[in-house]
Amino acid sequence: MAQAVVQLTRRRFGETMRRDAWWLPPLGAFVVLGSFLVYATWAAFQNAHYEYGPYLSPFYSPLLFGESPHAWFRSAPSWLPAVSPALLILPFPAGFRFTCYYYRGTYYKAFWADPPACAVGEPRTTYRGERKLPLVIQNVHRYFLYFAIAFLFVLASDAWKGYWFADASGVKHVGIGIGSLVLTINVILLGGYTLGCHSLRHLVGGYLDRLAGRPARRKAYDCVSCLNRGHMNWAWASLFWVAFTDVYVRLCSMGIWHDWRML
Ligand code: FES
Repeated sequence: MAQAVVQLTRRRFGETMRRDAWWLPPLGAFVVLGSFLVYATWAAFQNAHYEYGPYLSPFYSPLLFGESPHAWFRSAPSWLPAVSPALLILPFPAGFRFTCYYYRGTYYKAFWADPPACAVGEPRTTYRGERKLPLVIQNVHRYFLYFAIAFLFVLASDAWKGYWFADASGVKHVGIGIGSLVLTINVILLGGYTLGCHSLRHLVGGYLDRLAGRPARRKAYDCVSCLNRGHMNWAWASLFWVAFTDVYVRLCSMGIWHDWRML
């Protein structure tokens, strides 16, 4: 049977036959991601108001050095530059998000319009993909994953400590404040995001090009796949909540918000 040959025409930048509001998702991603970047950078450089009672902002956790009860060590080594403690740890979660498969697809569209959206003309005619520099570096995502999993344990520990309040004599008692719940929701959302990672799915599920035969690994693969199906939602929810957790601790520490105790 004869096959009709369809000639594809290359569209100019932004040219499309789409009639829907295709520009809305990339614009929304630009505004939300851009706002998060600006706020997180500002908060990381503040070096103040990152703790309140048993609460520690996730932007500053783990707090490696200092006199705070949240700090792991009292004094920093002399060779370490005296910078905000957030700057020592934020490169790891930031690197994890920046190289995330979902966010890559999103900010390639939102920040450098490559392409602006499906079936919309892009600004260049060649395609380099992610096999050459600089984007081949995105493959470090699988290594950032190990740090992200370690951070989950740290943040879970912070959430647990958020339920222990010291009285006037310094003795700690269990209690529940709004901040305890804020910290707990934070680690749940980050857990849903991290444990649905595409790299983790590959790591637990099998080998280079096939699934492992073991039932336990098949089960682990199915669990990660289940979270992975909602990866976009986990990504946005955890991004919003981690920023809100910092805002909550910051405003309580500044005396602007009051941490309401339920117990
Ligand atoms: Fe999104 Fe790994 S692919 S966190």
